[in-house]
Amino acid sequence: MKVLVVGSGGREHVLAERLAQSDHVGQVFCAPGNGGTTAIAENVPIEPHCQADLLKFAREQSIDLTVVGPEAPLCAGIVDQFQAANLPIFGPTQAAARIEGDKAYAKQLMLQSLIPTAKSRIFTRHEDAREYVATRDTAQVVKAAGLAGGKGSIVCDDPADALLALERIMVDKQFGDAGNTVVVEEKLTGPELSVFAVVDGHTLYVLEPAQDHKPVGESTTGPNTGGMGAHSPAPIATEKILRRIDSDILIPIISALEHDGAAYRGLLYAGLILTAAGPKVLEFNCRFGDPEAQVILPRLRSDLFELLHSAVHGKLDQIELQWDRRSAVCVVMASEGYPGAYETGKEVHGVDAAESLADVRVYHAGTKWISERLITTGGRVLGVTTLADSLAGARERCYDAIERISFEGAFYRRDIAAAALP
Ligand code: AMP
Ligand code: GLY
Repeated sequence: MKVLVVGSGGREHVLAERLAQSDHVGQVFCAPGNGGTTAIAENVPIEPHCQADLLKFAREQSIDLTVVGPEAPLCAGIVDQFQAANLPIFGPTQAAARIEGDKAYAKQLMLQSLIPTAKSRIFTRHEDAREYVATRDTAQVVKAAGLAGGKGSIVCDDPADALLALERIMVDKQFGDAGNTVVVEEKLTGPELSVFAVVDGHTLYVLEPAQDHKPVGESTTGPNTGGMGAHSPAPIATEKILRRIDSDILIPIISALEHDGAAYRGLLYAGLILTAAGPKVLEFNCRFGDPEAQVILPRLRSDLFELLHSAVHGKLDQIELQWDRRSAVCVVMASEGYPGAYETGKEVHGVDAAESLADVRVYHAGTKWISERLITTGGRVLGVTTLADSLAGARERCYDAIERISFEGAFYRRDIAAAALP
């Protein structure tokens, strides 16, 4: 079988790797892929937003399964286009992807279905939003309702910050039309958890949980990033909590979408805070998380192709998943300045030395090969990942490995998974 992975980050590298390991898969293509995917797949120079070109490629190559990494093509309707052309593709339709692409819609569905989430108000007029936040005396989170590349949620500890955030989103249009509608919600406190479910329209399969580390600085300081590291399993996610997430959050949202004429097929990602009153939803995403995928998928012992293929064909109930009981830790190496402005074009050294350690994999996020030199191309450059018998062991080996890698301006958080240690 031939598989096409759409995207170019660490998430797509691990997806391509696990799909290439399947006995069913003969060839993997990545569009456009990165410096890491070249070792396991053929990179195709088509960007994720070029849907017509992706469709043409998939048709010409008779691709048996396309797997879409990032949210933007899903929200733009790539799945609908592939389905209309009878090309199997893993991901939600445009209508179902609204669960990520339109936070106001997601809130409305959660409210209707009594899904626990932060109390919120939705505004389309700046005046109304201003009036509301000015009278709040607790911390608020101001969110652009549309897609904003993971930067559209601003946590504000007092009304002055919230007014500023509203100005940036609704007046200065920092995120363009994504900020035409805003969601203002109460700030929740507690540890964050990422729970992924593979859904085939009816059945859902919950994968092993993970914890992301969003802020750029150690001890959760500084601005939010796409994620500076992750670990799985997450000891805070007890069986009881996971059952509650399944029954009170995942099942109701899938059925709410189905009732709304948008049956969900693909990967559903619940971003949660475990509050004192139980798990509450921060957001839903319509795709695998990055870097969470880099710690969840290496722990999957079963065949990833079979899992995703079954979901596409509505046969998830025939699948049994086996997990590696070991722990995985991923630490992201980023370019100086990220998540703000950063330089690219730096040569990366030491990836082979890092991978010479047992059970270490370096997933590439922002690299490419130029004249046999590995060069940085992004803010997040590499995700160094290890598997070990304990979280402490995985962490230790991960940091041993990352110290072997260098490029000018490289930095990483030294406290990934530290809070999860017993
Ligand atoms: P979101 O775009 O909704 O995933 O938010 C990005 C990040 O902002 C989350 O991972 C949290 O760290 C933080 N955040 C969002 N909403 C809230 C909330 N209601 N309370 C506390 N933190 C939040
Ligand atoms: N790691 C967070 C995300 O993928 O949205």
